[in-house]
Amino acid sequence: MIQEINKEDLAVLKSSFLSLEIVRKDLNENPFGHYLAYIENNNILGFLYYSDIYERAEINQLEVCASYRNQKIASKLLEIMITTVQKNITLEVKIDNVIAIHLYQKFKFKQIGIRKGYYNGIDAVLMERKN
Ligand SMILES: CC(C)(COP(=O)(O)OP(=O)(O)OC[C@H]1O[C@@H](n2cnc3c(N)ncnc32)[C@H](O)[C@@H]1OP(=O)(O)O)[C@@H](O)C(=O)NCCC(=O)NCCS
Repeated sequence: MIQEINKEDLAVLKSSFLSLEIVRKDLNENPFGHYLAYIENNNILGFLYYSDIYERAEINQLEVCASYRNQKIASKLLEIMITTVQKNITLEVKIDNVIAIHLYQKFKFKQIGIRKGYYNGIDAVLMERKN
């Protein structure tokens, strides 16, 4: 089941790969932040953290628990986010992350720039999806 996580939900949720303390901090400190999560039995198996900032949205992080990858969980999370925000969406991704870049291209994100050395010396690809 995919749902948006609210601060109140954190008391019952668990995750082996996502720190709920970080989620709590993000939700407290980022007034534009949203966590969409794929959850089974109160266990978070995948999440998409994005910021919905006035006229645009930005993907901050997308991750699926390693043993649950390639089951279209990230695709479903992206699909729901795109339908929900109905805005142009930007993101940065490591240039060597072929799986993530493939996924974003599937959802019609296009490369609009390169940020040289953005990730500790590794270039970032800046991508945008026009609504
Ligand atoms: C990127 C990530 C979120 C994808 O999650 P997922 O739930 O496995 O994604 P999906 O199952 O929806 O889609 C995976 C796609 O990658 C493709 N893929 C899998 N392995 C691949 C490979 N080695 N090379 C190219 N594409 C690959 C799959 O075929 C699928 O594409 P398709 O829908 O066209 O068939 C997951 O790999 C992850 O958590 N990675 C680590 C964190 C990360 O890199 N996040 C992105 C940061 S911006």
